[in-house]
Amino acid sequence: MSLKRVQQLHEELAQHNWAYYVQDAPSISDAQYDVLMNELLALEAEHPEWITPDSPTQRVGAAPLDGFDTVQHAVPMLSLGNAFDDEEVQAFDKRVADTLVDAGVVGLDRRVDYLAEYKFDGLAISLRYEQGVLVQASTRGDGTTGEDVTTNIRTINSIPLRLRGDAAQLPAVLEVRGEVLMNRADFERLNENQTKRGEKVFVNPRNAAAGSLRQLDPKVTAKRPLRFFAYGWGEVSPMPAANQPQNALFSDPVTDALPRDTQSGMMDWLESLGMPLSRDRKVVKGVQGLLDFYAQTQQRRPDLPFEIDGVVYKVNALAAQRVLGYVARAPRFAVAHKFPAQEEITLVESIEFQVGRTGVVTPVARLKPVFVGGVTVTNATLHNEDEVRRKDVRAGDTVVVRRAGDVIPEVVAVVLEKRLEGSLPFEMVKECPACHSALERLDGESAWRCTGGLICPAQRKQTLIHAASRKALDIEGLGEKLVDQLVETGLVHTLADIFKLKVEKLILLERMGRKSAENLIEAIDKVREPALNRLIYALGIRHVGETTARDLAQHFGSLQALEQAEEEALLQVNEVGPVVAASVRHFFQEPHNREALEALLAAGVTPQQAQARANSANLPLAGKTVVITGTLPSMSRDEATRRVLEAGGKASGSVSKKTAYVLAGAEAGSKLTKAQELGVTILDEAQFLALLVGE
Ligand code: IVH
Repeated sequence: MSLKRVQQLHEELAQHNWAYYVQDAPSISDAQYDVLMNELLALEAEHPEWITPDSPTQRVGAAPLDGFDTVQHAVPMLSLGNAFDDEEVQAFDKRVADTLVDAGVVGLDRRVDYLAEYKFDGLAISLRYEQGVLVQASTRGDGTTGEDVTTNIRTINSIPLRLRGDAAQLPAVLEVRGEVLMNRADFERLNENQTKRGEKVFVNPRNAAAGSLRQLDPKVTAKRPLRFFAYGWGEVSPMPAANQPQNALFSDPVTDALPRDTQSGMMDWLESLGMPLSRDRKVVKGVQGLLDFYAQTQQRRPDLPFEIDGVVYKVNALAAQRVLGYVARAPRFAVAHKFPAQEEITLVESIEFQVGRTGVVTPVARLKPVFVGGVTVTNATLHNEDEVRRKDVRAGDTVVVRRAGDVIPEVVAVVLEKRLEGSLPFEMVKECPACHSALERLDGESAWRCTGGLICPAQRKQTLIHAASRKALDIEGLGEKLVDQLVETGLVHTLADIFKLKVEKLILLERMGRKSAENLIEAIDKVREPALNRLIYALGIRHVGETTARDLAQHFGSLQALEQAEEEALLQVNEVGPVVAASVRHFFQEPHNREALEALLAAGVTPQQAQARANSANLPLAGKTVVITGTLPSMSRDEATRRVLEAGGKASGSVSKKTAYVLAGAEAGSKLTKAQELGVTILDEAQFLALLVGE
C-alpha cells in the first residue's frame, strides 16, 4: 500500500515540477507542493529501502565529492563551425545544397529545410537516461571524455529525473544534449550576494553557470538558479519510429507536416518526454529563411532573460544530415551564425577623466582599440570612483570589455593574472581636468562634480552636444568634434551663439570648407522653430528625459508657462514627482539659465507651441492604448511609438481588454494571438496611418 503511495507521489511531484519549471505554468501552490513532498520524505524516512535515484527527494542532499570522475562519451560531443556574416551563411547553404543535389536528394529549387534555433551561451552537458531514468550527467570536456557532474545536475529542477510518458515507449538508452546556463537577473543577484559575503564575483552568466556546476558540494549548486535547454542527442537506442513511412526530406508541401525523422521532429519528441526546450525554434526554408531568423533573433535578444551568442542552423532532414556527414570535429549539416562578440579582452592604456553636461567627472579607460559588439571601441566607462576601486582597474591592466547592443562600452573585470608588476592603484582627480575648479562629492552620491558651472568649457561643450543631438534639436552635422572646435576657438559660448553663426566665421575653422559651412548654417536654420518638447529636452534639465519633456510641453503648452510654473503646478503633470518638479523649478530659478533662454529667444529661436492637454481630446488616438508588435513594413517601432504618442495615445507592451488597437507587422507572435482572443481591433501599418489622419 505505502510503496504504491510512494510511486504515486513520485509521479505527482514530477508532474507538478514539470508544469512549474518546464511549462512555466504552475499546477498547484507552493504550499500544496510542500505537503506532498513532506509526505514523501516521511515515508522515505521510515523506509530508506524505498528511496530510488529518480525520487523527487533526491535532487539535493548528496554528500560533497572529493573530485569529479571522468566519463567516456558514448557518442563524441562535437563542436560547430561558425559563420560571421551573411556571405558565410550563403556559402554554407550553397555547400549543403550542392552536396544534396549531387546526392539527388534536393529538388530543383535547391531550397533546403533547416531548423533554426538559439546558440545558448552556457556550457554543454550530456544527460544519459536508461529505461527513462537519469543515470549520468557529464560535461563536454575535450569532446571524448568529460566530467561526471550527475549530483550537481540533479539539483536543476527543470531537468527530469525520469522521462515522461509510457515506459514501454521509451528507448532503452537516450542521451540528451543541451546547454546549462543562468538567467542574467539571477547572475546579477548572485554577484550581489557574493559581494556582500566578500566572495568572488563572476564575470558573466556563463562563468557563473560553469562555476556553479563545478562545485564539489551539491548543496552549493542547489542554491544557484541554473537552467537547461536541450538541443540535440547522443546515443539513442532504439531511435524513435518515424511518423511517416517514407524518409521524407522536406516538409510535405501540402500539409506542412514534419516527419519525426527530422531534427525538428526529434526536438518535439524530446519535448514530449518532458525535456525543457526553447520555444523559439523554427523550421525555415532556404538561405533567406535563415537570414530572416537571424534578424528577428537579433531584435529579440535584448529582451531574452538569458544570453545567446548567435543562432544555429541545422539541416532538418536526418537523412540529409547523414548524406552531409562530418568534417573533423564538426557536422557539415549545421553551422553557428554568431553575433559579433559582446565581450573582448584588451589593454587599458590610461585612465582619464571626462566631464559631463551636469559636471559629473567620470573615469574613462582609454583602450587599445578592440572590435567588440560590432564596432571598434577605444574608450570604456569606469562609471565612478567606487566602481573603479571595486573592480580595481589600473592603467596597464588587461581587461574584459563589454559592449551590448547600444549600451556604452564598459570594463567588466580585470584579468589579474596579466597584471604588470609595480602597477599603481587608481586615484581619483581632485580638481576638474577642464577648468581646474574643485570637485565635490555630495552625501549619498557616487559621483564627483565639477563646481565650475558655466565657466567650465567641458560642461559647456557637453551641454551643446546634448542640445544638438538627434532627440533634442537635431542639428545635422553638429557633433562632438565641431562643438569642441567652436568652443575652443571662442566662436560659441552658449546655445544662443549657435544660432548667430555665420558662414564667413565658420570657414575660418580648420578643415571647414565653404560647402560644409553652408550646410551647417542650413541645418541650424531648419531648427529655428523647434517643437516645444524638443527644446525643453535640449535644455538639459536634470531628470528631464525625452518623455518628461514631452509631458511638460503638452501640459504647459508654452515655454513661458513652464518657466513660471510652481512646484505645485509641475506636480500635476503626468509622471512628474517631487524630484523632477524640484529640478525643473531649480533650473528656471537660476539667473544664468534664464539669461541663456532669453538670449536664445533673442537669437530668433521660436518654439512651436504644443497642443496643450486640454485640446488633446480631439487627437485621433486620444485616451487610446495601442500595442505595437512584429516588424512593420516601413516604420521602426520607435517611429510608430512616437506617432501614437503624438496622436494623443498611449503605447503599451502588453495586450489586455483595455487595449484599443494592436498594430501588427510581420512575424507578430503571442501578442497578436492574444488580441484575436480578446477581440481587440488589429491594424496593419496602412490602416494605422489612415487612422492618424482621421480617415
Ligand atoms: S549543436 C553536433 N545547438 O555550441 C553539434 N550547440 O560550438 C553539436 N551550443 O558545444 C552542438 N547552442 O555547447 C548546438 N542550439 C545549439 C547550441 C549549441 C549552444 C553550444 C554547445 C556546443 C557549442 C558548439
